[in-house]
Amino acid sequence: MTKENRRDWLIKGGLVIDPPSGTMEVRDVLVERGRISGIAPQISKEGVSIIDARGMWVVPGLIDIHVHFRDPGYEYKETIETGLKAAASGGFTQVCCMPNTSPVNDTGAITLYMREKAKKVKGPLLYPVGAITKGQKGETLAEIGDMVENGAVAISDDGHPVMNSETMRRAMEYASHFGIPVMDHCEDKNLSADGLIHEGLVSTALGFKGIPSASEEVMVARDICLARLTGTRVHLQHLSSKGSVELVRWAKNMGLPVTCEVTPHHLTLTHHAVETYDTNTKVNPPLRTEEDRQALIEGLTEGVVDCVASDHAPHSLKEKDVEYDLAAFGISGVETALGIVLRLVQEGKLSPLRAIEAMSTSPARIVGLDGGGLGVGQPAHITIIDPEKTWEVKPEEMLSKGKNTPFAGWKLKGKAIITMVNGEVVWEAR
Ligand code: DOR
Repeated sequence: MTKENRRDWLIKGGLVIDPPSGTMEVRDVLVERGRISGIAPQISKEGVSIIDARGMWVVPGLIDIHVHFRDPGYEYKETIETGLKAAASGGFTQVCCMPNTSPVNDTGAITLYMREKAKKVKGPLLYPVGAITKGQKGETLAEIGDMVENGAVAISDDGHPVMNSETMRRAMEYASHFGIPVMDHCEDKNLSADGLIHEGLVSTALGFKGIPSASEEVMVARDICLARLTGTRVHLQHLSSKGSVELVRWAKNMGLPVTCEVTPHHLTLTHHAVETYDTNTKVNPPLRTEEDRQALIEGLTEGVVDCVASDHAPHSLKEKDVEYDLAAFGISGVETALGIVLRLVQEGKLSPLRAIEAMSTSPARIVGLDGGGLGVGQPAHITIIDPEKTWEVKPEEMLSKGKNTPFAGWKLKGKAIITMVNGEVVWEAR
């Protein structure tokens, strides 16, 4: 196979699910020189490699706008290479990396380092998200212009909230000059202080200090007010409560430029999962109640919640194999995200089109990435999914260094079997 035709493929007979065009039909897809060059019921072409996709879904490459790849600084938890390989196996073709590295990604040099390192890996495209404040300390604005010039696609202090509303206002005003969204980790630290899990029945029964839903909701409300004040696009990360969804619904009805994401774990688990004392259920924001979970699903179905993002937060065993109160917050999520979302499809909660929209089209739109659709002329970022493949989540088989999943032992149905970036196959299931 020559280098040229490595990017030339005829994907035959798959069910094309393309949210931008509303297509859900069996089609052939032709890929030439890294771009989609044809989509039709029957395509014949000499000199290209054939992929038999009968029985498979052919969808726009999945996009995860919330991952932590820990590089630079915490390479023992994950590196850009292991993170990208894990994401590719999860079906992702593009990922946005949060800045809580060491040093924090608060300057163009670190943004550039991440991109350069990613370029050496055959995997998804990596887009850094720069910090809002220097060192994520919430005080002085980071070098936003410098980071944007070096490829940052958004700013966020994820892992930490920007507690000072005046600082957040300035960050939003600054970001709007560059046309990038501000992503926010919504948490009022005074309300959540020292909390371990959702404040409610389970925290009371287990004797753990709780994190009230209000700690998230007051910041969601604040950010909505600041979006109205500044006109800046604001994206609210990993929302976990019913109240947050109601606030975003209100903001959208008001026509404000607010978008939001939910994680697969908040869509699937509740605080009752913590009763096992499994530290892999420790995550920030915490797993909340069944009522919250249902509201997140409803929000996702109706479009108040724009997208699903994994909040892939790999940690080492030494940070998780400890008492619950000492364990790090976070769930390793890029390899299970698709399977968990497909579970909602199988339960009849989400249509296949909406699921793919939430994992590809919407995230592309929020961040302004070239992708999220299967139109002729678009870059060939394509995920091929076997919707019938059943598999078990086995942490020891995960490609991520972070084995911290609360889904170990779960049987899921549906898996990415080919992940293609710019026409290059970066993952193929055996
Ligand atoms: O649980 C979490 N872990 N939530 C965050 O916001 C940050 C993340 C991490 O970086 O480990």
